[in-house]
Amino acid sequence: MISVFGSKVGKEEIANVSAVLESQWMGFGKKVSEFEEKFAARLGLKNFAMVDSGSNALYMAVSLLNLPKNSEVIVPAFTWVSCAQSVLLAGHKPVFCDVELDTLNVSRKTVEAAMTENTKAIMIVHFAGKPVDMNPIIELGLPIIEDAAHAVDSFYHGQPCGGIADVGIYSFDAVKNLTTGEGGGITTNKTELIERAKILRYCGIGKSGFEAAAASAGEKNRWWEYNIQEPFIKMLPTNIAGAIGLAQLEKIDELQAYRKQIWDIYQKEFADVSWIVRPPDAEPHEKHSYFTYVIRVPNRDKLARYLFEADIYTTLRYHPLHLNPLYGSTATLENCEILNEDSLSIPLHPNLTMEQVSLIVETIKKFEI
Ligand SMILES: Cc1ncc(COP(=O)(O)O)c(C=O)c1O
Repeated sequence: MISVFGSKVGKEEIANVSAVLESQWMGFGKKVSEFEEKFAARLGLKNFAMVDSGSNALYMAVSLLNLPKNSEVIVPAFTWVSCAQSVLLAGHKPVFCDVELDTLNVSRKTVEAAMTENTKAIMIVHFAGKPVDMNPIIELGLPIIEDAAHAVDSFYHGQPCGGIADVGIYSFDAVKNLTTGEGGGITTNKTELIERAKILRYCGIGKSGFEAAAASAGEKNRWWEYNIQEPFIKMLPTNIAGAIGLAQLEKIDELQAYRKQIWDIYQKEFADVSWIVRPPDAEPHEKHSYFTYVIRVPNRDKLARYLFEADIYTTLRYHPLHLNPLYGSTATLENCEILNEDSLSIPLHPNLTMEQVSLIVETIKKFEI
């Protein structure tokens, strides 16, 4: 079966992981800091802290905003569950907004339609790596959480997606453009927030006695003492994850170029297939990450089943969240509901061979709608 999502690792990742295992220091350590520095430098981020998943990074991001309890936070309905879960876990209320049918992104219009006088923050998702049109949303004047889980290589007017607004997150899970097995990260232009994030990710523990002893040139006794500053869960990333990430960073340009090559083939091949609505390309002021290729088609379920039977896996990963009873939403979000019926992610990842890409194209073209 051809997978719909995927990442690619090779001998460089294996060598880096072996070196970590041989060092006997598998947990949080130098490979994490090295990855943090190199990732921030690559994207041009002012601050960056790695954590153990994108989902936890979202929970951290919402927590960092220090919103009054029960605040309303706007969340796109067409996204991964962690976006809403993080808001709930932090003690707030997700209020779902619609996305645009072409970009699959929120816009100022869809955000404004969901705003009330109790709205205290806005979460946006750069869906599939296509940058959200941020400036009109920033003008609304509310704190913004930027979910750049799909967008490690996306730029908007030269700014890295994730690093444009108040606080941003990345995911390095097993199928993301840059993987660390599982992993995530948080960025903010406010240095005091990243310092707090680094405390929070280790159960809210401030400087450890070990660090204090080192900083005071050995004068501090009882270096085992530490200072617990806030209640928080543990989200520490491992040296193993850092080491995989370092190898991935070395090849991210190559991985991205391959994703773009597949994307461009689909765009060209499906241009004359009348029943397929293709995703939009990047605008001149944007750089896209090509995380997933989402088509819109009539008879979507039949197409998915037909492809499954041809050993080609496709999916609708993002079920509109407002339709899930857990959130008690009564919203009608027309575009999300249309996408729930007609959108489909088809395979796009660096492990696909060009033969598989041709097979996918040819099989889809033969589908009898
Ligand atoms: C938009 C979005 N946000 C957040 C996440 C969570 O990332 P992770 O899988 O690293 O927890 C995902 C994961 O798929 C995602 O798609």
